[in-house]
Amino acid sequence: MGLVTTTEMFKKAYSGGYAIGAFNVNNMEIVQGITEACAEEKAPVILQVSKGARAYANPVYLKKLVEAAVECYPDIPIALHLDHGPDFETCKSCVDGGFTSVMIDASSKPFEENIAITKQVVEYAHAHGVVVEAELGTLAGIEDDVKVSAEDSSYTRPEEVEEFVSRTGCDSLAIAIGTSHGAYKFKPGTKPQLRFDVLHECEKRIPGFPIVLHGSSSVPQEYVTMINTFGGAMPGAIGVPEDQLREAARSAVCKINIDSDLRLAMTGTIRKFFAEHPEKFDPREYLKPARANIKELVRHKLIDVLGCAGKA
Ligand code: G3H
Ligand code: 13P
Ligand code: ZN
Repeated sequence: MGLVTTTEMFKKAYSGGYAIGAFNVNNMEIVQGITEACAEEKAPVILQVSKGARAYANPVYLKKLVEAAVECYPDIPIALHLDHGPDFETCKSCVDGGFTSVMIDASSKPFEENIAITKQVVEYAHAHGVVVEAELGTLAGIEDDVKVSAEDSSYTRPEEVEEFVSRTGCDSLAIAIGTSHGAYKFKPGTKPQLRFDVLHECEKRIPGFPIVLHGSSSVPQEYVTMINTFGGAMPGAIGVPEDQLREAARSAVCKINIDSDLRLAMTGTIRKFFAEHPEKFDPREYLKPARANIKELVRHKLIDVLGCAGKA
């Protein structure tokens, strides 16, 4: 089926009451773990690449890895998306490089400036058949090299979404309702609560329009414990409760971003492997179980959190 845009995926997700998983990819094993799970579970998927991933792996390698997945799994829809595009030039480079979707993240800019930059990206992307995700509101946590404290984060203002969407022409909108980037989110003993009231207010003002949640890792305790048991020093954190994400996926939320959980699975598995096999040094031997655990974690997300298994 080749690479697809998210248009059709979101239409079906909206009416079907589920969300598409958007997983960050940085190397071959991550691409393989995610797409093997999606192929087995017959789930559409968004593979996304950040500015940091482009700098690490070289955009050409990432594009080719995703193309390899498309060739291996022709029966599932796969979109290639730029995550947190920082400026017009980066978005343009991805549009020119064959991405099917880009995010322009000008959410830290004033409203009018966010609109102007987003509109510029939309005009270029749409002229090339590429869709655009934009963002309103500010999430807490760490994304690329930007760190936002909880005090500096701010929920999306529902009264702004309609004007933003109609003036920019964007295709989906990331909103801030209490999720947070990174693997350190939410202190043990607290009760994270997404602001469903804000989500539903936004939904009401832009009916039928796909909403995106960033910062939606749930920090699996199994992997935090594994990392710490085998020499790591991860502070305790509890992530976004999965039942709340499942509830969000039933609403207008059509795309849920998960990155940190996959990193925890990979790191925990490799740490455990080395501790148990100090004599081993073949990367294939330690990357194989890491890839297998990413696959199982993605399978769990597709079935129990996103609800998109069987929707390809
Ligand atoms: O929100 C950011 C994503 O988790 C990507 O992280 O910038 O470290 O690649 P990264
Ligand atoms: P997490 O850090 O919660 O996995 O969020 C990922 C994300 O939003 C990527 O854009
Ligand atoms: Zn994000």
